[in-house]
Amino acid sequence: MSATNILRLDHRRRRDARITTHVCLTARAFGASRVFLSGDEDKKLMDNVHDVTKRWGGDFLVEYRKNWDNLMDQWKKDGGEIIHLTMYGEPIQDAISPSKSSNKDKLVVVGGSRVPSKVYREADWNISVTTQPHSEVSALAIFLHMYYGGEELARKFEGGKLQVVPTAHGKKIIEK
Ligand SMILES: C[S@@+](CC[C@H](N)C(=O)[O-])C[C@H]1O[C@@H](n2cnc3c(N)ncnc32)[C@H](O)[C@@H]1O
Repeated sequence: MSATNILRLDHRRRRDARITTHVCLTARAFGASRVFLSGDEDKKLMDNVHDVTKRWGGDFLVEYRKNWDNLMDQWKKDGGEIIHLTMYGEPIQDAISPSKSSNKDKLVVVGGSRVPSKVYREADWNISVTTQPHSEVSALAIFLHMYYGGEELARKFEGGKLQVVPTAHGKKIIEK
């Protein structure tokens, strides 16, 4: 399965720090390789997410991109494909298979307060996760889960300092 990279549009440092952090942590936990952050530059948020990766493993990255439209243009020029998650798109249960049919790297776009029309136009697929309004975090989690077909649930995160040992009751963590 090809790599998934996430573009989070329109981050506002004051209002969105928590939800954008959750977009990044969800992307990492569910198998994406990288989040491109657009909108306000937010070094503290990026450091926090990199710190989670250092402690819990894997090689997940967060990068700031001021010009999201240049990134989208370049992504397509480089042969990648773009998937935009929006409640107005085709239902994920219909669109997920066609979106997985090529091995091209994917840029998965999630919006903030307002999504410019260029995103709808340029996306290879506009995909909805239900046609009800909810959140970039839930839409991304369901998308990645369906994209990776559940394999992401058992993914190993190499090189971390902490690892959970799943138990039916209580908490068990190995510190390496
Ligand atoms: C809080 S919503 C804001 C939506 C915004 N009002 C707009 O015009 O698109 C933020 C993001 O969550 C995602 N989202 C929310 N509901 C969704 C749904 N039902 N299906 C897919 N993505 C959704 C989209 O990426 C959206 O841009």
